[in-house]
Amino acid sequence: MGELQGKKFILGITGGIAAYKSAELLRLLVKAGAEVQVVLTEAGARFVTAVTYQALSGRPVWTDLWDPRADDNMAHIELGRDADAILVAPATADFIGRVAQGLAGDLLSTLCLAREAPLLLAPAMNRQMWENPATRRNIASVTADGIAILGPAAGDQACGEVGMGRMLEAEDLYEALVGFVRPKPLAGRRVLMTAGPTFEAIDPVRGITNLSSGKMGYALARALVHAGANVALVSGPVVLPVPAGVDRIPVRSAQEMHAAVMARVAGADVFIGVAAVADYRPRESQDHKLKKSGDVLHLELVPNPDILAEVAARPQPPFCVGFAAESRDLDRYAMGKLEAKRLRMVVGNLVQVGLGSDDNEVVIYDGAGRHPVPRDDKHRVAEAIVAHLAAALAAP
Ligand code: PMT
Repeated sequence: MGELQGKKFILGITGGIAAYKSAELLRLLVKAGAEVQVVLTEAGARFVTAVTYQALSGRPVWTDLWDPRADDNMAHIELGRDADAILVAPATADFIGRVAQGLAGDLLSTLCLAREAPLLLAPAMNRQMWENPATRRNIASVTADGIAILGPAAGDQACGEVGMGRMLEAEDLYEALVGFVRPKPLAGRRVLMTAGPTFEAIDPVRGITNLSSGKMGYALARALVHAGANVALVSGPVVLPVPAGVDRIPVRSAQEMHAAVMARVAGADVFIGVAAVADYRPRESQDHKLKKSGDVLHLELVPNPDILAEVAARPQPPFCVGFAAESRDLDRYAMGKLEAKRLRMVVGNLVQVGLGSDDNEVVIYDGAGRHPVPRDDKHRVAEAIVAHLAAALAAP
């Protein structure tokens, strides 16, 4: 099941070259399970035709205020009736001006004026149009009316100029929309967390590490931001994009991770250790590459600090959540960690299922017992963990 299953959106498309990105946005929304009704302006149809949007959304596109398909010619009211949000992307300077003025000269602007659902605009225009005082006034005016503005971004423009005014990319708009429709039970909460592996250097080219990809931790960071939390993510070396809204602090070794966590833990309401931290590191890291010899090579390993245990042992610890990756006896080892490290919650998973993969299947352990979360995409599993965490934080 997609993460937007059951959600309904109106995607308004006005006349800008960025309309090609809206076709990709539409594809992402539909793939995530959303029902999307496209409403196209006459100018919008000059860039990408209705046929494309119809094929991608699986439903007819609306353009005309006088379309006979609507009972009583009330398309402007009926289309938006049960929408979770209306997103206009691209929103041209002209269209934003019309919304600011409350004009209703075509179906899309009438729909916006008659809306009950929240309205989001993704501006797309030349940088001089964006900087023009008239546009600034219109943006201020629609913002004051409670309309959300997504972007724009700076960069190369279709006219050959460089500057502010590019519409956000389809993926960014998708993320913004998902975040917009999610409930915000963690609003105002500050979450500090770790993710990924650590790398313990042996010499300049070799080290000890593990197979953690960071996917579980990054999915959790994203779900936490969607739930309204302020998230600082201390991350070991991974090759993943940083989720929108997450403050990522890159580190390499367990000692660096430990220092980065300790420097930030004072203000945190919640600490979550998803990282697969190396328990040991070489006593010494060589400055120069070790040379091969015929002899046996002995590496002396010393223990790393236990970051999670140290955070949980603070005089006034944040709400501490640990992860336990086991290859067997999940209940026994995870419950052992809950007690030994004096944690409020432990998320247990089997390495055979969760390590490096896109899916996971976890059991959440807390004072009330064990709560299994069935196997699913890590983003869905992360949402379940966040829901459990939010309920625990809300409990008296
Ligand atoms: O990154 P992925 O490929 O998506 O995989 C996800 C995962 C399997 C790595 C993740 O879901 C997970 O289980 N992380 C914990 C990994 C682990 O090995 O935990 P542990 O049993 O070694 O440690 C228990 C807890 O103490 C963890 O919260 C860990 O972050 C923390 N710890 C451990 C050692 C240490 N020196 N400092 C710590 O803070």
